[in-house]
Amino acid sequence: MEVVIVAEARAIGPVVVDAVAALIARSGAPVLGLATGSSPAPVYDELAARVAAGTLSLAGARGFLLDEYVGLAPTHPASYRATIEAELVARTDLPTGAVTGPDGTAADLAAAGPAYDAAIAAAGGIDLQLLGVGSDGHIGFNEPTSSLGSRTRVKTLTARTRADNARFFGADPDAVPRHVLTQGIATILAARHLVLVASGTGKAAAVSATVEGPVTAFVPASALQLHPHVTVVVDEAAAGGLALADYYRATYADKPPWQGV
Ligand code: GLP
Repeated sequence: MEVVIVAEARAIGPVVVDAVAALIARSGAPVLGLATGSSPAPVYDELAARVAAGTLSLAGARGFLLDEYVGLAPTHPASYRATIEAELVARTDLPTGAVTGPDGTAADLAAAGPAYDAAIAAAGGIDLQLLGVGSDGHIGFNEPTSSLGSRTRVKTLTARTRADNARFFGADPDAVPRHVLTQGIATILAARHLVLVASGTGKAAAVSATVEGPVTAFVPASALQLHPHVTVVVDEAAAGGLALADYYRATYADKPPWQGV
């Protein structure tokens, strides 16, 4: 696992987008795993800036959402499908038809999870999966005690996550759906490169548990320690609880520029 510590949240964007650009240069048609929430905003801002500047194109890319609320139509402004449409598709040349998400309105929700995993596999798997982390250590919507072997399925949100996400629902936790469809932890671990981004002091405890704590289903993001290619990009505030922060800084500073993350 590589940990990159940057001065402020917006500096997360260029580090991650350099990795996306290198992937596009290698493959031309990358499959991107797309996270929502506040954390990825600097990444989507940087992607939009480079596409506008003509230095990067997502025209050949495909995207798979990490998770989705159950019961929200794709047109609901708080749905993750609508969020990624506004945050990324509308601001870049990523074709809207190239983005797929779990079907939170499926009549058969039990079948929707395996169908989603099959769609990812049919696309050749995810090349680069962008991830945020919940204040309780969740990734996607895999709440604490999620099986480390889980695949895409329905999960029930904790009260803490519904409170954290109430800001997208008129500040009313009761308006946040109770159920979600989320890539499982094993689904996430099947991506070829995992990039977790976090900023702010509210994420410091989750980041230190993810990077330096034991691997445990109680901190789902700690499962990233099992993956061979993980990059954690955090600002100084989110790095505040890391015991080996100086080591991570020195390691990154010594990397040759061609190596990337
Ligand atoms: C949400 C999303 C996660 C996200 C996390 C953190 O519940 N399902 O994918 O990483 O919470 O969100 P934020 O980045 O807004 O803090």
